[in-house]
Amino acid sequence: MRRLKLGVMISGNGSNLQTLIDACENPDYPAEITIVVSNRPDAFGLERAESAGLPAIMVDHKTFDNRTDFEDTVHNILKDHGVQLVCLAGFMRLLGTDFVNRWKDRMINIHPSLLPSYKGLNTYVRALEDGVRFAGCTIHYVRPEMDNGPIIMQAAVPIAQDDTPETLATRIQGYEHKIYPEAVRYIATGAVRVSGNKVIFGDPTMIPSKGLISPKPSNLS
Ligand code: GRF
Repeated sequence: MRRLKLGVMISGNGSNLQTLIDACENPDYPAEITIVVSNRPDAFGLERAESAGLPAIMVDHKTFDNRTDFEDTVHNILKDHGVQLVCLAGFMRLLGTDFVNRWKDRMINIHPSLLPSYKGLNTYVRALEDGVRFAGCTIHYVRPEMDNGPIIMQAAVPIAQDDTPETLATRIQGYEHKIYPEAVRYIATGAVRVSGNKVIFGDPTMIPSKGLISPKPSNLS
C-alpha cells in the first residue's frame, strides 16, 4: 500500500500529533509521518516525535529576520522529506500567502470551533460567553485568510450548563483526536476532493442524515 507522506507542524503539546502518530503505527493506515516541524524549542510535541522515533526539526521563527525566510526554510524541509500533505496541529503562527498557496489543497488545519464561527483564539471562552448550545472542532484545508478554507470534517459538541473553558476544551479535544486521523484517511484514500470552496465526498452516504438537538427535546408534545 502506498502511504501518503505527512509533515506535521506543531507549536506546543502535540496531542493531535500523538493521535496521528498512533494512527500511523497501524500498517493498514494509509499515511505515514515523514517529518515533524516545530517553531518552538519547548514544544512537548518534539518529545512525542522523538519517543516515536520520528524525525523532528525545530525551526525557531524568532531567529529569522523576516517571515519569508522562515517559511522558505520550513517549505524546503517539508519538500526534502517528500511531504505530500501538511497537517497543522496546534501550529500557532499565521502563515503567509505565498507559503499557503504553495501548499494549496495539500495543507489542512484543526481549529477548536465549528467554523466559520469563532475564528481566532479563545474559542471556548467566547462560545461559553455567548451561551451557544453547540461548540466543536473543524478540520479544513488552509487558505490565506485565518481559519478559512474548505471544510473537510466537523464534530459538534453540546455545551453543558456547568462547563468551564477547561472542561469544554477537554471534551472538544477528545473529538479533535477522533476526527484528525479520519480526515487524513479520507484524503489519503481519495474519498474527498475540493470543489471551489467546498469539499465533496465521493460517497454521499458518508454524510449522516440525523441532526443533534440540545437540550434533549421533551417527549411530551
Ligand atoms: C488544538 O485545540 C487545536 O484545535 C488548536 O490548537 C490545539 C493544539 O493542541 N489548533 P495539541 O498541541 O494538538 O495538543
